[in-house]
Parts: sequence; C-alpha cells; structure tokens
Amino acid sequence: MSKMVAVILAAGKGTRMRSKLPKVLHKVGGKPMLEHVMTAAETAGADKSIVVVGFESEQVAEFIGTRAQIAVQAEQLGTGHAVMQTADLLKDFSGTVMIICGDTPLLDGCELKKFYLEHQASGAAATVLTAIMDNPAGYGRILRDAEDHVIGIVEEKDANPVQKAICEINTGIYCIEAPLLFEALAGLTCDNAQGEYYLTDVLSKINEMGKFVGGVSTADSDMIMGINSRRQLAEAEAIMRQRIIDKLMDQGVTIMDPASTFIEGTVEIGQDTIIYPFTWLEGSTKIGADNIIGPNVRLTNVVVGNSTNLQFVYGHDCIVGSGVTVGPYVHLRPDTVISDEVKIGNFVEVKNSNIGRGSKLPHLSYIGDSDIGERVNMGCGTITVNYDGKKKHRTVVEDDAFVGCNSNLVAPVTVGAGSYIGAGSTVTKDVPPDDLGVARARQTNIKGWAAKYRNR
Ligand code: UD1
Ligand code: CA
Repeated sequence: MSKMVAVILAAGKGTRMRSKLPKVLHKVGGKPMLEHVMTAAETAGADKSIVVVGFESEQVAEFIGTRAQIAVQAEQLGTGHAVMQTADLLKDFSGTVMIICGDTPLLDGCELKKFYLEHQASGAAATVLTAIMDNPAGYGRILRDAEDHVIGIVEEKDANPVQKAICEINTGIYCIEAPLLFEALAGLTCDNAQGEYYLTDVLSKINEMGKFVGGVSTADSDMIMGINSRRQLAEAEAIMRQRIIDKLMDQGVTIMDPASTFIEGTVEIGQDTIIYPFTWLEGSTKIGADNIIGPNVRLTNVVVGNSTNLQFVYGHDCIVGSGVTVGPYVHLRPDTVISDEVKIGNFVEVKNSNIGRGSKLPHLSYIGDSDIGERVNMGCGTITVNYDGKKKHRTVVEDDAFVGCNSNLVAPVTVGAGSYIGAGSTVTKDVPPDDLGVARARQTNIKGWAAKYRNR
C-alpha cells in the first residue's frame, strides 16, 4: 500500500477566540483540539503527521513533542502558503498528502480513513471532502462541471450570487498526490478578495493540468465543524460530551442524567457502575464495576475499585479500593490510598495517607501524612496534628487501635496495635500496643457549686 502523510494546519492565531492561548490548544472533552486531530490522522492510517505552526509556535510545538513533525509558517499568508511550508519535509515523498485543519476537534478517524480509501480507489490526483449544508455561509463552495467532476472551489468572499447559492461546501479536508500538490502550490497567486495564497486554488490548478479531481461528500456535518469562537467551542464541547457519554452507556454504564454529567474522554468506567447527576470525572480517572458515583462527585486522576459508593466527594490524585463508602462532604487529597472496605463519613479530609482495610473515619476528621492500619476506628473529630509550622510529620496508628472522639494525635507519634485512646486526649507520646492512652485533665466535681451560683 502506498504511503500517506497527514498535514495539519495549525498556524492561525484564532483571532475570534480572543485568547492568549493558541486556538488549537483550547480543550474539547478534556483534550486540546490538536490532540483530537492528531489522533484522527493516526486512526486514518497516516504514516506520519506534519503540523504547520505559526502563532505561539513554541507552545504548540512543545505540546506536539515527538508525536508529529513541525513546519513553521512565520507569516500567515493563507492555507496554500501554510502547506508550502511542508515542501522541504516532503521533498522525497511520492504518496498521498491528507490535509486537515487543526481546529476541527470532532473529526472521526474512521471516516477519514474511508475518505482516504475512496480517494485511492478512484485514482483521482486530488479529492476534496465535501458536505451538503442547509446554510453554507462562510465556507468555500464546490464547483462541478456537467459530468459532476470537481473543477474548483470558490471562497465565499470571492463568490458570485449563483455560486453563493451552492450548498455543497469545502470541509477543508483533502487527499492530494504529493508531487502534484507541490507543483500546483508553486503556481498559486494571491489575486483574490483576501490577498492570500488559497489552498483551494490547488484543485482548479490540478484540474487545468488535465488530472482528475474528485469530491466525496460526508453525511456527518458535526464531524467537520471548525472552531473559530468560544461559542463554537461550547457547541463542540456539548457534542463531544454526548459522544463520550453515549459510548459509556453502550459499554454498560448507567448515566442517570447526561445533561448534568461531565466526563472527559480519557476516563474509563466499568460495567454496571451508576453515575448520579452533577458528577465530573476528569483526567486519568479509572473507575471499576458496580460502583455508585454521585451525586455531586468530582474526581480528577482518581482510581476507584469495584462496588464502592461515593457521594458529595472531591477527590484528586488518589486511589480508592473496593467496597468502600465515602461521603457526604469528603475531600480526598493527593497521595492518599484508601484500602478495601473502608468507611469515610461526613466532613472528613484525608491527605497523603494510607488507610488500611476495614478502617473507619466516620465523622469530622483531618487525617494527614498518616499510616492507618486495618480495622482502626478513628472517633468523631480525630485530628492528626501533622504540621509544627516548619515541617510535616507522620502519624502511625496500628491495626485494631481505637481512637476516642475528639483526640489530637501530635505527630510524629505511633498509636500501637490494639490500643485505646481516651476521648478528648491530646496524644504527644507513643502509646504501646494494647495500652490505654489518656491525655487530658482529670475531672473534678465541686459539690453544690451550680445551685449556689444560681441563688447568688
Ligand atoms: C478554509 C477554506 C474554505 C473551507 C473552510 C473549511 C481556504 C482558502 N478556504 O476557510 O474553503 O470551506 O476552510 O473550514 O483554504 N491556517 C494556517 N496558515 C494560514 C491560514 C490558515 O495554518 O496562513 C490554518 C488555520 O490555523 C486553520 C486552517 O488553516 O486551522 C483554516 O484556516 P481558516 O482561516 O480558518 O480558513 P477558512 O476561512 O475557514
Ligand atoms: Ca476555519
């Protein structure tokens, strides 16, 4: 099979976005638009991709890394000029160049592959992907001859009223055979309404050379949507969000209310997990099977096992096991590992801590920099005093310990296996295994004091 290289145009500033960030780095479904486009090109079967960068080129190049080659277009003189910048990188290339825009995040790689195969099968020198639009405003219009062959594309700004009435538009996606592409590009002028080197003119040039130019129409007009403004970004986000949710539902995940559920494309969720409303799942979050997540849960880079129940929880960069219940109103902070069968109740914060299997943190606790063993009970209001104003210290609570309510564990400190801590203690010394640690003033009752006070 002959070779195919994808050229992705991403040098434009994206003026209408009104942003410091280059347009192609704005995110849709949690990933920069350019990443979606690079993935689509790879799925389509590109042997390599070249991204044409210009505005904030260093930032875009840094994002691309080694995933694609970079061509720099120092001045944005039009889409044709942008493709010319790849001439050096493609000078020995004789296969097909697939040209796509970096601002079309909804592209479907499988559809692109179909388009490429159709181009190949037709034997055309160039093929443009077209779409029929009810409202073609803003797009280039496809010009065909009596035999239905594509003879050129006219930009809206250069079109006469008859041409403007054409509903078949240029999606900006093309397959063009490499040597011809650069031959045609060399002949471009900027004699048009925008004073730019139009890539679209390459097609009429190739037609004039007596070669066959094809036009293939796609029925998926969402797919080719180009993002030029924040409004269009929000429209694309909504379409992408629905696609992600549809895919998860098809895989056996229940999403109670898709309209109030926000799941990034990177997230994995297992079968028969139920997602309640107002839930945000982001980044590398990976959730197992049979869980109940939400309502009101936000998880960023969190791994969750199976049969766990989280409600009203914010968790980030942490691990939660299986058979765990968390919430409501719980904050799980980075580097926390919650083992299986743990219960974490309301108003609890856990940071940089390991909570052993079957342990309970039922209410109102701060557990930071701690290693809590198995089957430990941390009474209501237990606080680890982990910070002395200069350094953080660790608290260790060994297996089967029982920490009474409203205790302060002043780190570094170890509460031994099977020991008890009396309620209200401020523990500053290690408690040996199986002992009772009590660290509070002894109670005195003053006989008749209250009655005397009242009758004073
Ligand atoms: C282009 C097509 C139009 C088509 C439409 C589809 C031309 C002349 N017109 O118009 O027929 O219907 O796309 O969306 O090609 N870019 C560069 N360097 C430049 C100029 C643009 O890299 O000098 C990049 C942009 O970053 C963008 C893409 O090329 O990703 C398209 O440019 P844009 O200005 O948006 O073209 P349209 O006017 O939409
Ligand atoms: Ca555009």
